Order: sequence, then C-alpha cells, then structure tokens
Amino acid sequence: MTDHSNTPRKPPQTAPRASATFDEYTLSEIRRAAATGIYDIRGGGAKRKLPHFDDLLFLGASMSRYPLEGYRERCDTSVVLGTRFAKKPIELKIPITIAGMSFGSLSANAKEALGRGASAMGTSTTTGDGGMTNEERGHSTQLVYQYLPSRYGMNPDDLRRADAIEVVVGQGAKPGGGGMLLGQKITERVAKMRTLPVGIDQRSACRHPDWTGPDDLEIKIEELREITDWEKPIYVKVGAARPYYDTALAVKSGADVVVVDGMQGGTAATQEIFIEHVGIPTLAAVRQAVKALQDLGMHRKVQLIVSGGIRNGADVAKALALGADAVAIGTAALVALGDNDPHYAAEYEALGTRAGAYDDWHEGRDPAGITTQDPALMARLDPVAAGRRLANYLAVLTLECQTIARACGKSHVHNLEPEDLVALTIEAAAMANVPLAGTNWIPGSNGTF
Ligand SMILES: Cc1cc2nc3c(=O)[nH]c(=O)nc-3n(C[C@H](O)[C@H](O)[C@H](O)COP(=O)(O)O)c2cc1C
Repeated sequence: MTDHSNTPRKPPQTAPRASATFDEYTLSEIRRAAATGIYDIRGGGAKRKLPHFDDLLFLGASMSRYPLEGYRERCDTSVVLGTRFAKKPIELKIPITIAGMSFGSLSANAKEALGRGASAMGTSTTTGDGGMTNEERGHSTQLVYQYLPSRYGMNPDDLRRADAIEVVVGQGAKPGGGGMLLGQKITERVAKMRTLPVGIDQRSACRHPDWTGPDDLEIKIEELREITDWEKPIYVKVGAARPYYDTALAVKSGADVVVVDGMQGGTAATQEIFIEHVGIPTLAAVRQAVKALQDLGMHRKVQLIVSGGIRNGADVAKALALGADAVAIGTAALVALGDNDPHYAAEYEALGTRAGAYDDWHEGRDPAGITTQDPALMARLDPVAAGRRLANYLAVLTLECQTIARACGKSHVHNLEPEDLVALTIEAAAMANVPLAGTNWIPGSNGTF
C-alpha cells in the first residue's frame, strides 16, 4: 500500500454557492433587462410560492360527525347566482364557473370550446375584454357578459343577449392595472370588435371612464339593470387588494354577486413585476370577503365567487368551506383544453421555453392554438374534443369536491364550513381564520378585521 500521509493536499474548496436573493431567474432577468431596456410581459398568474389552499386540510368525520355514503347518499352541488334583485338568476348544476377570458387573448376556437365544456356540465362561461363572439354565445347555455373599463366590444344588444353581466373593476393578477394585447394578436376580426387599428399594440384602460367610485358604480349598475329590464344578475369583479371593503362597497352599490380574484389568478398579458408584486393571495382574500358579507347580513344573499389558482376539487371545497358560493377557473380550464400540453414539447422548446412553463401568451405563437389568432395554429384546436376535455375536468373537480363534502358529513357542498378546516402553517391559519392543525389557536385578529 502506498503511504500518502506526506503528500501535500489541496486545501479544501467551498462549493459554489448560489444566492437565494440573486437566484438564477433573477440574474437572467437582470441580464435580459440590461440587454433590451424593456420590461418583461407575460401571461398567467403569480408563479412564486404563496400561502394557498394547499396550506389547509379538512378534518373529515370522526366520533362527533358521521360521513355520508358515496353511492347512496346525495350530496348536492347546485348553486343559484343572483338571487338578490335579478328576475332571472343563474342556476348552475356545479359550483365551478369559467372565468372571463377575452376573445383576442384567446382564439375563437378556444372560446367555443370553453362554451361547449361548460354547457355540457351545466355551468356558465364568461366573455372578456373585446366583446362577445357568436361562437361562444352559440355554444354557451349560460353566458356572463363582461362590462370592462376598456369598453372594447361593448354594445347594448350583447348586454341583452347575455344571461348575466359582470362589471369588472379589477383582476387579481393586476389590481389597479389594465390589460395588454400586442399587435401580433390584433387581427382584422379582433380589431373590428374593439374598434382598434390592426396590428398595433393596445393597452386596456385600468379604470372605468365614467366613474370614480362606488356612488358612480351604483348609478352604472342601475343603468345596466334598466337596459336589461332587471332580468340579469349583475356581478362585480374585483382583484384581491382590500377585499373586505371592496366587497362591502360592491354590495352597497347594488351587486347581486361579488367576484373576488386573488393574486394567483391568471391574466392574458401584463408586466411580470405587476403579477408577482401587486395584490394579495386568494387564500387571504376569501375570509375577508365573507366577513364583509356576514357583517352586512348579506352572506348567501349576495353570492360570492372566488378565483385565483383553483386546480382541483379540494381547492373548490376549501373555497366553499370558507364561505364562497362558487369558484371560477381560468388557467386550469385552458390546461384542460390543451394549453402547455407536452404533446407540443418540441415546439415549446423552439420558442425558448418548455411545456408547463410557457407563458408568452401575448406573442400569439401558442402551439396548442389557444392563446393565438394565427389561423394555422388555431386550427390545431378542435373545439369539440377540447370542450369534451374541459367537461371531463369539470366533472372530476365536482366529484372530488363531493367526496370531501361527504367525508365531512355534508349533503350539500355549501354546508362545508370553516369548522371543517385546519391550517398547516401559522400564515394560512391567520389568513383563513381557522386553527393551526392540532391546536385551537387562530393567530392574528381572531375573527375581526
Ligand atoms: C388568457 C386569460 C385571459 C383573461 N382575460 C380576462 C378578461 O378579459 N377579463 C377579466 O376580468 N379577467 C380576465 N382574465 C382573468 C380571469 O378572469 C380570472 O380572474 C383568472 O384567470 C382566475 O385565476 P386562474 O387563472 O388561476 O383560474 C384572464 C385570464 C386568462 C388566463
């Protein structure tokens, strides 16, 4: 054996250490900004880890509660939206709706597929910035028409063709900001509907042109009711920023339904910095909105729809348990249609990204034919097959939500309650106002805001 004891050794080296502050993504973004001088735009919602529904758990039945039998005992999932003033409330078979996503950001085929999938499951879909297309009206049994700050595509005939109206004040991905639609996606059809020039970048307004606060909103809502003969439910959608006060003000303004969209909520396109740094997580918003409704004696009289990062039946059940009447989905619905599908892996790679991470929806080059206006790409999306996939996905969300509700002994998903929940982290416990698991401790304000 060789004796190495006298061989000089290299001094030990420390391993290269990446900075948690200046991580790989951050460094690449600094380099990109330095090279181009322009900020980054993308679609989707906040990508960083945030307190979310995953931080809550259901307790399920135990000695003091008995569960319901899956195959024999009914667990209802129906929901009625707009019971306050509207002559014709919206009746849904499931508590999951399709959120407003604009024609322009999405292809006509994608809009049609959303309508087909939602209708097959007895739920509603929603228009978006840019107006109502015949494809989506024709294939949506219940269509909510958005009334947005931009007024793109707005006309009174379409208000009357809709089944409900959603006045958009803000979105969770960008509270205080407007949308963006870059020239690449402004085809003749999109331009005509928005009365804009073809091929020129467009920024939607961040606030309504003719009102500055809740008093004006009240007048606007009354105007919309007059135009539609008091038939249609009027929703008010806000991005989660100050949900307690925004919900209270929406109720005071005469809303039938309040939609609260948290910061995980998707957008078609806006500044990355906006998506990641403005607004509050969905989890933090739900209980505040519910509390406002309870304080006004309006919980379950004015319905609450929650959106922003809903992915599975547990998320749906948790939102309902915290007091929402229904949820809305955007991103997950697009994934169900075929967005970011590994089938197009090579094409995503050619775009400098990968399936699962593709978010340059504003560029209009989506290989899956969803966030594009390119006729060749759009033709790849078969609206019938994509609609079927969405319907399947909605069915699974509903079954999962029912499974949890039954395990908690509830004969209607609306009977889920905060008492069925505990939190895994102190943050989630404080935000959702439920106890930390294994304790009876609710950190924070103990139920008051
Ligand atoms: C492609 C896309 C387009 C959107 N367009 C609109 C819009 O026109 N109006 C609007 O109020 N919200 C719009 N949103 C936001 C959705 O209505 C909804 O608030 C959000 O997607 C919910 O979060 P989720 O995507 O995590 O489900 C859009 C979202 C996406 C993904």
